[in-house]
Amino acid sequence: MDHKLPSLDHVAIAVPNLEAALTFWADALGLPTLDIEIVEQQGVRVAKLELANTHIELLEPLSAESPVGKFIASKGPGLHHVCLQVDDIKSDLSKLKQKEVKLIDQEPKIGAGGAQIAFVHPKATGGVLMELSQHD
Ligand code: CO
Repeated sequence: MDHKLPSLDHVAIAVPNLEAALTFWADALGLPTLDIEIVEQQGVRVAKLELANTHIELLEPLSAESPVGKFIASKGPGLHHVCLQVDDIKSDLSKLKQKEVKLIDQEPKIGAGGAQIAFVHPKATGGVLMELSQHD
């Protein structure tokens, strides 16, 4: 992250039921729903809502055993992670490793929309799970 500052790609909120959550975010608040996608790999159904320069993602667990299912069971619904959009995720991950930052993903994996993503442990960030994402 030496050259260009990252932008906020999205803020993700864990919800037990997407349709119930959309009655606030889409119907009452009026945000456009860009997409609803099942991401099997992460065990979630995701609704992507449009803001002026970023997105809100609502994450509904596909099962109680999925990471988001366990998150809701232990902490309740709420803020799940923030995602920064970066230019060169591999380089950022190696810099973080050099600084002994606690990572969940040592290497990028493929996330929603085909982006390369990796998660940084909440213990490193001040308590909030952080996703790094690079769109090609
Ligand atoms: Co995300």
